[in-house]
Amino acid sequence: MSPLLPIILLTTILGAITAFLIFGNYFKKQKSEVESLAKAEPNNNNANPKKPSKPAISSKKLKHHSHASDKEQNKKHHPLDLNTLKGHGDSVGGLCFSPDGRNLVTACADGVVRVFRLDDISNKSFKFLRINMPAGNQPVAVAFLEDNSSIVVATQTLSGSSLYMYAEEKANPSNGNKQQAKPPLPEIKWEHHKVHEKNAILNLFGTTATYGSADGSTIVASCSEATEIKLWHGKNGKLLGTVDTNQLKNHMATISPDGRFMAAAAFTADVKIWEIVYTKDGSVKEVVKAMQLKGHKNSAIQIAAAITALKSAKIHLLDVDFGLGDMILDIISMNHSAVTCLCFSPNSDKMITASKDGTLKVWNTNVRYHMDEDPKILRGFPIPLHDSKGATLHYDHLSLSPDGKILAVTHGSTLQWLCAETGVVLDTAEKAHDGKFILYRERTSLRLHII
Ligand SMILES: *[C@@H]1O[C@H](CO)[C@@H](O)[C@H](O)[C@H]1NC(C)=O
Ligand SMILES: *[C@@H]1O[C@H](CO)[C@@H](O)[C@H](O)[C@H]1NC(C)=O
Ligand SMILES: *[C@@H]1O[C@H](CO)[C@@H](O)[C@H](O)[C@H]1NC(C)=O
Repeated sequence: MSPLLPIILLTTILGAITAFLIFGNYFKKQKSEVESLAKAEPNNNNANPKKPSKPAISSKKLKHHSHASDKEQNKKHHPLDLNTLKGHGDSVGGLCFSPDGRNLVTACADGVVRVFRLDDISNKSFKFLRINMPAGNQPVAVAFLEDNSSIVVATQTLSGSSLYMYAEEKANPSNGNKQQAKPPLPEIKWEHHKVHEKNAILNLFGTTATYGSADGSTIVASCSEATEIKLWHGKNGKLLGTVDTNQLKNHMATISPDGRFMAAAAFTADVKIWEIVYTKDGSVKEVVKAMQLKGHKNSAIQIAAAITALKSAKIHLLDVDFGLGDMILDIISMNHSAVTCLCFSPNSDKMITASKDGTLKVWNTNVRYHMDEDPKILRGFPIPLHDSKGATLHYDHLSLSPDGKILAVTHGSTLQWLCAETGVVLDTAEKAHDGKFILYRERTSLRLHII
């Protein structure tokens, strides 16, 4: 048998899994609007954590809505649905709130980045600033910098991915009335091309580094669809470090809110964490391997299930070439245990991971890893979302509220709010965004949910 065959097969299989569009960074760093959730869920506090609350909208009501007229559709779909940002010409691949929570930037496949002012969240007509990307660039991800007005945009081009940093020109100081002043048009301050060779960028994550001697600059991680993650200085565009997850394929990368750690969710069950080391003068010195979260299932049961699956599919690769069969089994079992998304807690001492093994886990990452102490699992709960056949679904994105109490998670267009302490479902919004609904009916709008 040709020695190339395993590689070709591997490539084919890997090619098959690279089909997902991020509705990414959906709930990042926004101002807490927990009050509105509290209104819908008066019992939602730690004093009564075990009481599962009723969904705020009944399935009957949902059905009614999906058959309703267009006018009805413009009304709220869910008590927690605050508003819809209109004006997008295509699907939105990435979004990010500014650190002060007053702006939201979206990366749209129509080639435009829009910056929305969120001063009055219930106002139907949102003003937005329109930034047209250079020709041939499709924006896929965005991150705000520490001044709340500069952004880094990742774009997809024919030759790979590019990064652009846009900053506003200094406003005219004589123009005192900020509310009425037309915002000055942002300009490109730095740009990099083919940042991950030919690979696409899955997500950008920026945070203002305050750990230790860090100087408060925003550092931005760009996560390649392959196995690379690069760390950039937001303001000057300097490359601060490159790491390789060595896990076949990345899912996403994040940085702890204090800028100390960077972590990646990838194709296998283990989560790798790096430390971002700062010099005394506050700049990044290096990015070094720190810890690994081990505990999501990577078990023989899944390999056995994979063998059964292969047999029922009448694939007898095992008989043909043992090495190849082994490799495919490895890939399948890894795919069933992959960590799909993760986030750090607001005070950077814990992590939450969601895995295809059907569980969510909370980890204590505040350990003396220099002394080989491993992060411990503090809590674990089954993912409370199932398909019609009862199989557990996996989460695409997760985000923790600024007080660390509520976890927002998505699977496709389903949005759930969970109690971070117990994993209890606080609320569920189906067809919250995306899917056929947005594609056909509200293709040019984006539903905004703030928790
Ligand atoms: C941006 O927002 C953050 C968070 O509210 C704030 O601490 C910071 O001072 C703001 N930066 C500027 C330049 O306004
Ligand atoms: C909504 O926003 C528009 C444009 O920003 C403004 O003209 C209008 O007065 C606002 N409406 C309310 C009710 O605040
Ligand atoms: C991995 O799982 C996804 C669904 O979650 C599936 O579409 C894909 O084919 C799987 N890939 C491999 C290599 O098993």
